Amino acid sequence: MPKPVLLLTRRLPDAIEARAARDYDARLNSADEPWYREGTEIARRAAEAGAAGILCAAGDPMNAGTIGALPDSVKIIATFSVGTDHIDVPAAKARGITVANTPEVLSFATAECAFTLMLMAARRAGEGERMVRAGKWDGWAPTQLMGVTLEGKRLGIAGFGRIGRELAAMARGFRMEIHYRDLNRVPPDLEQGAIFHAEERDFLSSIDILSMHMPGGEATRRWLNAERLSWMRPGSIVINTGRGGSVDDAALVAALSSDHIRAAGLDVYDGEPKLFPGYLGLANVALLPHLGSATLETRDAMGQRALSNVDAVLLHGKKAPDAVG
Ligand code: DGY
Repeated sequence: MPKPVLLLTRRLPDAIEARAARDYDARLNSADEPWYREGTEIARRAAEAGAAGILCAAGDPMNAGTIGALPDSVKIIATFSVGTDHIDVPAAKARGITVANTPEVLSFATAECAFTLMLMAARRAGEGERMVRAGKWDGWAPTQLMGVTLEGKRLGIAGFGRIGRELAAMARGFRMEIHYRDLNRVPPDLEQGAIFHAEERDFLSSIDILSMHMPGGEATRRWLNAERLSWMRPGSIVINTGRGGSVDDAALVAALSSDHIRAAGLDVYDGEPKLFPGYLGLANVALLPHLGSATLETRDAMGQRALSNVDAVLLHGKKAPDAVG
């Protein structure tokens, strides 16, 4: 029997492409050609190849238009990401196409990235690095680039899912006090002493550092707006490794410019890879290029997990273990 055709939209780690090529008639994009940016091109390639599955990635435009144009042969869209905000899941469901993601395996890496940004923002590491590289450092000085410690600070985690809870575990090692906000309070074994806030205003006004771990999409669009920023204590820090659309960029830039917000650390951006231009001129914001899950170990684990979802549907006729929607 011929192997099912699997269309990979992006270059993936070598071990993942090798597994895909072993088990499928895999149509790789090993050169990472940018055709994945156009939904029409994804659908055209899927139709041309007679794809049974599509292994896509965060940011691919798997919207209603793309999904509507896919050939009937497509049975599964497996995304190499935990986020599914780039996929119109109801549109896929309406066509009988399974959508699956890669939860759990990237939680620690993404929390690590949030922690990196938290340290960069609190300890002004980006400013220091830029100063040294620019040849502008003229030696140690008692008042140079003084930041703030994380020790004893109140960390507010917005979105207390797996990533948020990994961050909480790391922050306990820094003797931080953990606060969180989510739709519901989690059981005590997951809470581990973290303080739940039923009200947003109470949450935002109780913390020194906000770390955002919310899913993207319309429900969280521009959640961190001027009003919510105004509820935060002067001198607070904002970290976002969730989705860029959850921040009102103009409001955050204004709050950073006035020093109401001391510093920010961002890994994700609305409309990325484009950035809101206001960030670029600000010293007190650390900017990373969506590195959350970018470790060798995690990217391999994400690929294995994505392929296991494809295998379940296309090779074993079973439900994908990480089916969403
Ligand atoms: C995800 O998985 O959703 C990330 O944003 C990419 O790792």
